[in-house]
Amino acid sequence: MKKYLITGCAGFIGSNFVYYMLKKYDDILLVNLDKLTYAGNLENLKGVEGDSRHVFVQGDICDRELVTSLFEKYDFDYVINFAAESHVDRSITNPEIFVETNVLGTVNLLQCTKNAWLKDGVWAEGKKYVQVSTDEVYGSLGDEGYFMETTPLCPHSPYSSSKASADMFVMAFHDTYGMPVNITRCSNNYGPYQFPEKLIPLMINNVKNHKKLPVYGDGMNVRDWLYVEDHCKAIDMVTEGGRDGEVYNVGGHNERPNIFIVKTIIAQLHDRLKDDGISEDLIQYVADRLGHDRRYGIDPTKIKDELGWYPETTFEVGIVKTIDWYLENQEWMQRVTSGDYMKYYEEMYKNKA
Ligand code: NAD
Ligand code: TYD
Repeated sequence: MKKYLITGCAGFIGSNFVYYMLKKYDDILLVNLDKLTYAGNLENLKGVEGDSRHVFVQGDICDRELVTSLFEKYDFDYVINFAAESHVDRSITNPEIFVETNVLGTVNLLQCTKNAWLKDGVWAEGKKYVQVSTDEVYGSLGDEGYFMETTPLCPHSPYSSSKASADMFVMAFHDTYGMPVNITRCSNNYGPYQFPEKLIPLMINNVKNHKKLPVYGDGMNVRDWLYVEDHCKAIDMVTEGGRDGEVYNVGGHNERPNIFIVKTIIAQLHDRLKDDGISEDLIQYVADRLGHDRRYGIDPTKIKDELGWYPETTFEVGIVKTIDWYLENQEWMQRVTSGDYMKYYEEMYKNKA
């Protein structure tokens, strides 16, 4: 039985990964270490309650004693690090926590992993550490070209700088100590359980409630949208088959300007809910994000050629599934947007409008 330490899996991508893995494999153990920040929510894991293949541990990846004790208890085969502060806007107002979790937390995990797997100068067999990173570490593209694994790192936001820094520590542990590692760098994910501070769930929620839709700048920034389940599949494939020490880019080949996404959500919800209060009049162009990267686009040739991965869900299918999910899970939306979140959001929005 393979035993995984997975971190940050009460969040968006991680919770989807738990569902994906438990559906695919009978004989695994997933130990899920999550601090339950504002972005982590046990509601996301309701569907696996009572499943003995998933063990939830509330805690911080920066906690040396706790992580060490988990290694002692479970003797993990794989570590997959999803845990992070993940929102660019928050990183602009409060960069320190991004350094703590994304950089120091990653280094702590690497140290604990090394202590457990490296004995008398020999690495235990069949182990691997996987770092879930982002295409944002490459910086911003103009109208042409794609990010390749060989593209130099050139992060702009405090978020992407912290992720790039973590990636460099992962490679340092590989190059210095011989730690078996892979890094995945994916484009923007969308799908169920995404915290509604990110573009797609935020817009779905606001459209539904006839709230203004804050589009940053001219709305022509481009993101490469990837359905979350396709991303989960890629992480599994890299964990199982990725070559030691390699980086794999994971992209949807689905580049869309932000304004296209917003108008698509408006049109879908207008038709679906037969609600004439839903129109493009809700769009409000607001001040641009500081340092806003213009375009992300991924070339996923390497992961396709080496591991046979490709994105199965087209944007047309994925966005309908996503809107359906948020319409069917309004209690979830209410719960995660209650309390401090709304205060934070109104404050952010006031500053931008
Ligand atoms: P998320 O913000 O939804 O979830 C992050 C999770 O990490 C939460 O459950 C939170 O409680 C947990 N966490 C935060 N700090 C922690 C700490 N110190 N110790 C333990 N747990 C902690 O993020 P997500 O969108 O699911 O992203 C997961 C990973 O994928 C991140 O590393 C992110 O950088 C990366 N990524 C995300 C996207 C995207 O589009 N969402 C794109 C590329 C890469
Ligand atoms: P986001 O979902 O925050 O992801 P990231 O910044 O990691 O790409 O934002 C996606 C794009 O949408 C980005 O170009 C910023 C833009 N955006 C808006 O225009 N309005 C919003 O309210 C949000 C949250 C994002």
